[in-house]
Amino acid sequence: MNKVDVIIGLQHGDEAKAKCAYSICQENRDYYNFVVRYNGGPNAGHTIYHEGQKFVTHQIPVGVFFDIPSIIGPCSVVDIEKLQKETDELSAFLGKDITNLILIDKRAHVITKKHIELDSDGSVIGSTKSGIAYAYGDKYLRKGIRYESSIYGFLCVDTYKLFHEEKANFLFEGAQGWGLDIDFGDYPYVTSSHCGIAGVIASGINHQMIGNVFGIAKIYETYVGNKQFQPLENTELPRFQEVGQEIGATTGRLRQCNYLNLDTLIPAIKINGVTNIIINKVDVAEQLNIFKLIYKKEIKIFKNLYEMKFFINDTLMSEISHFVQIMYSGNPYQI
Ligand code: IMP
Ligand code: MG
Repeated sequence: MNKVDVIIGLQHGDEAKAKCAYSICQENRDYYNFVVRYNGGPNAGHTIYHEGQKFVTHQIPVGVFFDIPSIIGPCSVVDIEKLQKETDELSAFLGKDITNLILIDKRAHVITKKHIELDSDGSVIGSTKSGIAYAYGDKYLRKGIRYESSIYGFLCVDTYKLFHEEKANFLFEGAQGWGLDIDFGDYPYVTSSHCGIAGVIASGINHQMIGNVFGIAKIYETYVGNKQFQPLENTELPRFQEVGQEIGATTGRLRQCNYLNLDTLIPAIKINGVTNIIINKVDVAEQLNIFKLIYKKEIKIFKNLYEMKFFINDTLMSEISHFVQIMYSGNPYQI
């Protein structure tokens, strides 16, 4: 049976999913036949370091860096104009034309100028102003435009056939994160798509095909949007913004920071069936010498990274009934 591995953000986006996707793809470039972006659209900002150079993608899945055909999946929304621009920029960056590596599912919905216009105030909740809510809104109002009815320069495919008929392995790459999920996020401070495993299944995958589910988190949390996330009275959290360079890759907004919250991380792992957790940016905590997390609504303080890791590993292993491999990463280039 065809195999699907999945990358899911377990917090509020910006967990360094792209770095993990890049690393996993690089190590398994002969194994994966397709990489699929399964939710969202140009609201995403995925920072990648390729051969020492930084590049930020928004809609293009990471597979193209390794010549792996990459699909914008059926549950995504797509801004064709922005995708064309991103394709040109990435082609110039890589020194070759990557257009033929990008496939768009016929069921993906198209973001129109009207959607962007309506979203231009960022809505009450502080959107990225990319027209996401309005494109998904029209989809559910049953008056949206599917890519199949408006084919532009990118190959239109029925990926469900690829998923089941071709002998192939897939890497499904999520955008945003569980805390922004339309159903399980902190509604209404959410995006309009399924950021978790539901987004993979809804794309036409049989659950038995799912292999590794990589859940990505940071050792502290960040959020971009209009709700108050960073406690106002706290004076050390702004240092995470500074040292962690927590500035939105899509909008340039400063990301609000808070400590790692195990009370929300644990259900995110359980619901999404995460098999491998990658906790990024441990170098930032080390540089700041701040080792704190939230558990059972209380802030726990540790002397060093070792103690903090020990507590995280111990708590996750006792609270989660299935086996989860836990990894830590402290550099922006690879896991
Ligand atoms: P929208 O997805 O542009 O409608 O924005 C809805 C909420 O999700 C806002 O709080 C955005 O800042 C946030 N958001 C959307 N995409 C991302 C992302 O890729 N990373 C982090 N936050 C995001
Ligand atoms: Mg991002």
